[in-house]
Amino acid sequence: MNEEKLDLKYLLEWYLTAGVDETTGDEPFSAEKAAVPVNLSREAPKLPPKSQPAESGERRAITELAQATIDACKNARSLCENARTLEELKTLVENFDGCALKLTATRTVFGGGNPSARVMLIGEAPGADEDRIGIPFVGRSGNLLDKIISAAGMKREDVYITNVLPWRPPGNRTPTTSEVAICLPFLKRQIELISPEVLVLLGGSAANALLENEEPISKMRGKWLEYKTSSNQVIPVMATFHPAYLLRNVGQKAKIWSDFLRLRKKIL
Ligand code: URA
Repeated sequence: MNEEKLDLKYLLEWYLTAGVDETTGDEPFSAEKAAVPVNLSREAPKLPPKSQPAESGERRAITELAQATIDACKNARSLCENARTLEELKTLVENFDGCALKLTATRTVFGGGNPSARVMLIGEAPGADEDRIGIPFVGRSGNLLDKIISAAGMKREDVYITNVLPWRPPGNRTPTTSEVAICLPFLKRQIELISPEVLVLLGGSAANALLENEEPISKMRGKWLEYKTSSNQVIPVMATFHPAYLLRNVGQKAKIWSDFLRLRKKIL
C-alpha cells in the first residue's frame, strides 16, 4: 500500500472509531457551484484526474492523524523494551494512553493465569464481562474455553490467557488495523516474558495479527504454524476457532476438539 493510501486508511479508521458518520470540508460548500451539469450528449462525462491531491487542510489532518498512530506504535514498542517482568508490563499497559479504546473501556484487561505456563492462549479483545471484571475469558466464551482446556487434559490454572487488545472495543466491534498495530508490541512482549512452548491463537483476529497474514482461520487451523519472537525464538502455533464462533456454530465443535487433542499430544 502506498503512503498516501495508508494515511487515508488510518484517518478513516480513526474517524469511524471516534463515531464520525458525516464529513464536511474546510470551505463553505455551494450547491450551485457543485451542481453537475446534465450531460445531454452521448459522450462519457469527464472524470477528474485520478490522483487529485487532497486539500492542504485535509492533507495536514491526514498526516497528523497517521503520524499519531505511528507515534503510538513507536511509543508502545519503546516502552516494551524496558519491561523486564509481567508486572512491569502490566503497569505500562495500564498507564498507556496511545489507544483510543482505553477511553471507552471500563478496565484494562491484561493477561492472566500461570506465568510459567507451557501453553499460552490468545483471544481477540475483552467482551462486556471481561471489561466489567478485568480478567480475560470470564463470560460465555470463557466458560466454553474452560471446558475445552479441560478436555485437552489441562486446567485453567495451568495455562496463561490473554488477548490481542487489552481494552474492549465499543459494542464488541472488530478491532481496527491501527488499534491492533498500536497494541501488538504489548502482546509480543507478553509472549516473550511468558516464553510458552506452544501458542494457541483463538480466532482469525489473533491469528492474523500475530502471523501477519490475512488468511481465514478455516485455512490456518488443523496444522502447526510458527511464530518467531524478536529474539528469534520459534514457538509452535496452533490457530483454531474462537469459542464465541463455536457458540454460534455448534456444528464446528468436532474441529476445535481435534485441534485441542493435537495440542494435548504435543505437550504430553
Ligand atoms: N473474547 C475474547 O477474544 N477475549 C475475551 O477475553 C473474551 C471474549
